[in-house]
Amino acid sequence: MKRPAPPPPRSPRRARPTLIVPSILAADFGHLADQVAAAEEAGADRFQVDIMDGHFVPNLSMGPMFVATLRRLTRLPIEAHLMTARPQDWIRAAADAGADWIIAHAEATSFLDRIVTSITDAGARPAVALNPATPLCLLDEILPRVGMVLQMTVDPGWGGQRFLDHVLDKLRRLRALIDSRGMTCEIEIDGGVETDTIGAAAMAGANIFVAGSAVFSHPGGPAAGLAGLRAVLNGQRRARNRR
Ligand code: DX5
Repeated sequence: MKRPAPPPPRSPRRARPTLIVPSILAADFGHLADQVAAAEEAGADRFQVDIMDGHFVPNLSMGPMFVATLRRLTRLPIEAHLMTARPQDWIRAAADAGADWIIAHAEATSFLDRIVTSITDAGARPAVALNPATPLCLLDEILPRVGMVLQMTVDPGWGGQRFLDHVLDKLRRLRALIDSRGMTCEIEIDGGVETDTIGAAAMAGANIFVAGSAVFSHPGGPAAGLAGLRAVLNGQRRARNRR
């Protein structure tokens, strides 16, 4: 008797968790503890601290002390996103302040291998970020050494910018590159993640979503912001599982 064909292999992406990572850049710093607690209660998976030095990006935001402050406010993992001209200057301080992930931009250094080693040596997990126009080939050699790639969906420097739709094609190529090499590296996106953009980004291959304005500037507060984003992702998962 002919044996039934085995079910099609589940794509690794289907097994990947979808994480939402509120960026405190958009939080109300006068009520940071309440905002962080509300986001954590509403199901945030991690938080991100945007460290900007006014050189790599034309804006000055916050330093490693905000990682330390956030560390006291949440049990969730914290990402330190280094938008700094000299990422090597901030790794140890961010790790000592409690960052679980440290994200360095490939555009900010000629010594990305040494940066990744420094992050690991400091006790954090390394990730590499690319701006929208930076070619994927910059990842070719470092990809096996990082657990996550952060593909910016805006040119960094401010929250509240509009999602760059043309980055979706680059996301699809990044997902194909990772899957073709049999890697489990996560793809995170950051910039303009809203209920009307997160679905297309997930379909293109991202599975971790940084959201600042959509969470902390939502008129209904962080819980409503997170619920809206999660509803889009859950709807997509249900539709995928029905196929
Ligand atoms: C650099 C920052 C922002 C922020 C999220 O620009 O990295 O992308 O985290 O900003 P929004 O408000 O677009 O989610």
